[in-house]
Amino acid sequence: MAKLGMLLLILCHGLIRAGRGVEADTSFQYYQFSNSGNSISVLGDAHIFIDDLALELTNKAAGRATFDYPVRVISASPQTSISFETNFIFSIENEPSTPQAYGAGLTFSISSENKTVGDPGGYLGLVTANPSTSVSTTKYFALEFDTKQDTQFQDIDDNHIGVDINSLVSQQAKPAMSGTIPVTLASGTHIQAYVSYNSVAHVLDVSISPYTNGDYVKPTVSLLSVPIDLSTVFNEYMYIGFSAATGAGTVRHKIWSWTFKTTTLNSTGQPVPTAPDSEYLAPGPSPGGFEHPFGVSTGGRVQSSAILGLMFCVSLSLSVNLA
Ligand SMILES: *[C@@H]1O[C@H](CO)[C@@H](O)[C@H](O)[C@H]1NC(C)=O
Ligand SMILES: *[C@@H]1O[C@H](CO)[C@@H](O)[C@H](O)[C@H]1NC(C)=O
Repeated sequence: MAKLGMLLLILCHGLIRAGRGVEADTSFQYYQFSNSGNSISVLGDAHIFIDDLALELTNKAAGRATFDYPVRVISASPQTSISFETNFIFSIENEPSTPQAYGAGLTFSISSENKTVGDPGGYLGLVTANPSTSVSTTKYFALEFDTKQDTQFQDIDDNHIGVDINSLVSQQAKPAMSGTIPVTLASGTHIQAYVSYNSVAHVLDVSISPYTNGDYVKPTVSLLSVPIDLSTVFNEYMYIGFSAATGAGTVRHKIWSWTFKTTTLNSTGQPVPTAPDSEYLAPGPSPGGFEHPFGVSTGGRVQSSAILGLMFCVSLSLSVNLA
């Protein structure tokens, strides 16, 4: 018998737009996705799958979804650099009617452009097989959650996580594991990914954890811990988001929740002090009419008052099936 539990869901979206001469960190949380005012742009197959309150990236070929606003990932001041942390929950599942279908996988990407959806199959909805001039100059960092082995891109297997820089041939890749436990990416299970980049130590860490016994447990040791200097890849502002692609048949790649946060660090790796939220966050539209007064972790380094703030939160009480 299914167990019903009460879950308080807080849908919150905080965002800071920095004006001239202002540097601010970016932070937002999607604990679910809805169609109104979500600040997500979708291309190709991607859409909000409202039955699930999820961001569905594919239902036939390839899709891409990006956060509407470019995110500052390089500090204008040479004294500082910008770290980021992102967690998201995804699932990759076949339609029951097409159990023999296979997908290619999904990516979390930080790209210099937000207008192109890539091709299906091994291109993971991120890059096109025959890039136009504008697309061939695109710079990107991507984490691939790849469920099909493409020899063209020197994939290690059909169930791996790889770090890609301006190429789908991964710089480093490992079979999907949560600690010492193998994880099947395309099992339909919800999987949480934990990604952090330290811009002073120049290390990218990636772990995953499948939903097991009612929870996600972040492994103590990262699956990938890659020395990498992303400042050579990034423009000052980049677009963040997801892409995915199917192979043959219907495979649904879904993002269920997503949090993202940048932190500006000084040269010794300490966070640059941030101003209190209330100083620079203006209340924004409240789509559901429920203002939630708590401070979201929207840190910012404020050097002038030229800030446009936008923030809204919705809290919902839902009965959910936890079984
Ligand atoms: C691309 O980003 C701009 C903001 O820089 C935004 O106005 C536009 O809607 C985005 N387009 C797509 C397709 O994501
Ligand atoms: C870095 O930040 C720490 C903590 O705020 C501070 O003590 C230190 O002096 C800063 N270092 C530099 C080089 O700015």
